[in-house]
Amino acid sequence: MKAVVQIRAATVEDAPVLAAAEIETAQTPGLLRSRPDELNVRSFAQRIAELEAPGNAGRYIVAVNDLNEIVGHALLDSMSLARIAHVFRLTIVVHPGHADRGVGRALMNDLQRWAHDDSRVEKIELLVRATNARAIHLYRSCGFVDEGRFVNRIKLDNGIFIDDLAMAWFP
Ligand SMILES: CC(C)(COP(=O)(O)OP(=O)(O)OC[C@H]1O[C@@H](n2cnc3c(N)ncnc32)[C@H](O)[C@@H]1OP(=O)(O)O)[C@@H](O)C(=O)NCCC(=O)NCCS
Repeated sequence: MKAVVQIRAATVEDAPVLAAAEIETAQTPGLLRSRPDELNVRSFAQRIAELEAPGNAGRYIVAVNDLNEIVGHALLDSMSLARIAHVFRLTIVVHPGHADRGVGRALMNDLQRWAHDDSRVEKIELLVRATNARAIHLYRSCGFVDEGRFVNRIKLDNGIFIDDLAMAWFP
């Protein structure tokens, strides 16, 4: 069943919930690049503060369900060098227990609308594990195209390698 969610800007107070959700997600190999022990509340709070400061190039959003729980988050941030500052990177995580209910699509729609309306954004890039069929389906259905493949870019704790796919969307 599809979830009804509202999208709003993330606040620094959301950081503990977002960090906890990513730490839990990262326990499943092959979804995120980070290991659970590489994620912490302070870096989430810092990134939200940077991206949501007035005039900053980026957007950090959360999806909230009808119980007022945060069920996903996503962000776009720009590259720092001037010649690639028109390129934004996308990160998205739907929180454990809330996948496959349209939350990811709602987050993508918001970010793509924002990118479309902001003339600074001329390209959005992402990397996705080649085994993450759900995410790849979502990105392709949102208009992202394949740009390449980074072979053996992820090495799991058991020594197994996974390729990363590069995908992009042009507003
Ligand atoms: C990947 C992710 C962002 C997708 O968000 P979501 O809310 O689960 O996705 P939605 O419900 O909006 O859409 C999922 C789509 O994938 C499809 N899907 C589900 N499982 C699938 C599979 N194994 N193979 C192909 N498609 C699949 C669904 O049918 C749906 O497509 P449709 O809308 O055309 O019917 C989310 O599951 C997630 O965050 N997962 C964990 C972290 C992660 O993988 N992040 C991305 C790292 S690059």
